[in-house]
Amino acid sequence: MKLVFKNVTIVNAYGREVRDVFVSGDKIVSPFDEEDARVINGEGKFLIPGVIDPHVHFREPGATLKEDFESGSLAAAVGGVTTVLDMPNNSPAITTAELLEEKRDLVKGRSHVNYGFHFGATGDNNEEIKKARGIKGVKVYMGSSTGDLLVSDSKKWVDIFKTAKEVDVPVVVHAENEERIRSRMDEFSGRTDAHVHTEIRDCECAKIALSSAIAVRKKVGNKLHVAHMSCAEEVLLIKNNLDSRLSCEATPHHLFFSEEDMVDSFLKMNPPLRSAEDMRTLWEAVRGGTVNCLATDHAPHTVEEKSRSYLEAPAGVPGVEFLLPLMLNEVKQNMLGFEQLVGLLSAEAARIFGLKGKGEICEGMDADLVLVDMEKEMKITRNMVRSKCGWSPYEGYLLKGWPVITVVNGEIVVEQGKVTEAMPGREVD
Ligand code: DOR
Ligand code: ZN
Repeated sequence: MKLVFKNVTIVNAYGREVRDVFVSGDKIVSPFDEEDARVINGEGKFLIPGVIDPHVHFREPGATLKEDFESGSLAAAVGGVTTVLDMPNNSPAITTAELLEEKRDLVKGRSHVNYGFHFGATGDNNEEIKKARGIKGVKVYMGSSTGDLLVSDSKKWVDIFKTAKEVDVPVVVHAENEERIRSRMDEFSGRTDAHVHTEIRDCECAKIALSSAIAVRKKVGNKLHVAHMSCAEEVLLIKNNLDSRLSCEATPHHLFFSEEDMVDSFLKMNPPLRSAEDMRTLWEAVRGGTVNCLATDHAPHTVEEKSRSYLEAPAGVPGVEFLLPLMLNEVKQNMLGFEQLVGLLSAEAARIFGLKGKGEICEGMDADLVLVDMEKEMKITRNMVRSKCGWSPYEGYLLKGWPVITVVNGEIVVEQGKVTEAMPGREVD
């Protein structure tokens, strides 16, 4: 299929210009004769590189009641996300080359958007990390969370980091200190209110874990990516250790909610919501460039599960379908530059995880594109949620700036909210 976006304002991380964009096959190409192409009027609209979400949990295999690759990737596509990197905390967790191949076979041909896989470290599976084909990151849960992946024994970290360096992928850390979590769980065991979650997994947990991860990285010299930054202390640690091989992400939930918003288990997640002051610091780190990229940590659980009491409810919130509109609304309100947003949502993730052909609109790059209408205003409602979990923490948000067309590998997958037949998603190189 051939496409032409006429007179559209393209926005890259480094600048914008008004021009025509030509798509043929799965690539952005040089101008061709428009006669045999679908021509889309882009006047007054913006074309951005497809959003890359480097941190999602699409729950396959093992928890497809919460989400599966079809529903998760559909939610992504509707939200302008054209590439996701999926986490390994499945059942079973993806910790062997064989399990990775099984997951690969399971997902193939069932994704609306492009995808890649992170691999789970156990502390004893470094040979499997070496054997695993095409992984995008090695996930280390320094503290426990959903699933059974955990490497709390600090002696194991050096070898994991060395192995990741050898296979040349970033270590992605969930930086919460397990020992402190455990001892505080005991200390606060009488409490059942939602707020106790933030107190148990406090910023000290994050700080201890992140300091040790950074120390190990310094020794080994590998690439380290810090998942879901949430505390001012973490921002400071990153600022004090700036290095092109150290990167970090922030989630929308840590940017739009603080602990004060936590009235029930729906906003329970790991790491938890923080103080309003931490939230402000995180926004500053996003605007000031300390945070490299945004990632949703899309972690769907059902309404029934999230309706349970604090102790019973699983941690995690969905986010993949509303990341882009939430952030476009910030651009619309002049809280963030549009070019800067493209860096945060696409260009940086492509650089950090080495995703070839992604993150930029120019000839020769993959045709993963999102047409954006900055005048479109819409309220998020539960009805519009495409994720199988069927709810969103952002219900009721009135946002200006929405994706109107999503193109994956040169094919329109969503147009004005309507999902097409195309299923062009494939594994990223
Ligand atoms: O809140 C979370 N949910 N944090 C995690 O680390 C895992 C995730 C999930 O998979 O549910
Ligand atoms: Zn996660």
